[in-house]
Amino acid sequence: MLVTQQPVFRKFWHPVMPLSQLATGTPQPFTLLGEAIVLWLGADGEPRALKDRCCHRTAKLSKGRCIDGALQCGYHGWTYDGTGRVIRIPQYDEGREIPAGYCTPAYRCQAAYGYAWVALEEPLAPIPEMPEFGAPGWRTIFQFHEVWATSPVRALENSFDNSHFSFVHRATFGVAAQPKPSRYELVEQDGGSGGFYAETVIAATNPPAFHRVSGSSEPITQRHMRNAYYLPFARRLDIEYPSGVRHVILNGFTPIDDGHIQLCQWLFRNDTEADCPQQLLIDFDHVITREDKDILESTDPDAVVDLRRRGVEFSMDSDRPGILIRKQLMELLARHGEAEVHR
Ligand code: FES
Ligand SMILES: [Fe+2]
Repeated sequence: MLVTQQPVFRKFWHPVMPLSQLATGTPQPFTLLGEAIVLWLGADGEPRALKDRCCHRTAKLSKGRCIDGALQCGYHGWTYDGTGRVIRIPQYDEGREIPAGYCTPAYRCQAAYGYAWVALEEPLAPIPEMPEFGAPGWRTIFQFHEVWATSPVRALENSFDNSHFSFVHRATFGVAAQPKPSRYELVEQDGGSGGFYAETVIAATNPPAFHRVSGSSEPITQRHMRNAYYLPFARRLDIEYPSGVRHVILNGFTPIDDGHIQLCQWLFRNDTEADCPQQLLIDFDHVITREDKDILESTDPDAVVDLRRRGVEFSMDSDRPGILIRKQLMELLARHGEAEVHR
């Protein structure tokens, strides 16, 4: 599937960048579904997003500057508000009216969990709820936002695939001697927003370096995994260790273009900095995500989604979550009159 060729994905919220990156006061470029956009913070501190193209002579607005919550083009200084209207042309005499048509497209943009999220068109579903964010007893750790040369379907499927641990993660938590995956209990969510919930318990190696992460010192521990899929490209993974420590991850696999995603990863933990320092948790998940990144970047980003296309990729029993993701994506496309677009 070529994500930029499927217009329905424009109708969802995608996490684009941390608000801290916007707080620098310079406009920031991003490519979302092949669309060049620019983000900045308005006077109220809320993020804004416009097409990254000045309506005067097409300069990239991300090369401009933020002035009193407005965005000024770096070429001739035309200045935009958050709705994309030109509100100032410095070359005009005072009081001269700016034609109403002088504007560039604006996109829906909102702050959630410390990130700016953008929907290119009216969104079909809300941003997934993360009750742990800001809740008493929980801390939020911004782990990663980085570009991976893969597609959202590949990254999503990988995040529900418990057959790769013994191979991709054998150097970290995978138990090489146990390649047979534990079975997932899959529950499809009702209602238009789709998604599903998958639950399983896996064995995980627990060397001394992981003791503070798992809250236990057993050589092999258990991970009770509660994994939820949110259409189209987000998932929440709640890992509970026997110690009671919970390691809750939110991933947004933001589609940049047909060969790249931005991996956004938040971590929520119900322990304290003294129990397990933030940097240790970032380093721990960094090593694991490098293992996934390396193998995913070797796959074809144009993943088969329409399984009626036989013979392109073959499946096994443990691919059920990935097959369910495909089924739900196909239903979404069908509801919007689209078929899978691929090479
Ligand atoms: S190109 Fe932007 S002001 Fe001229
Ligand atoms: Fe993995």
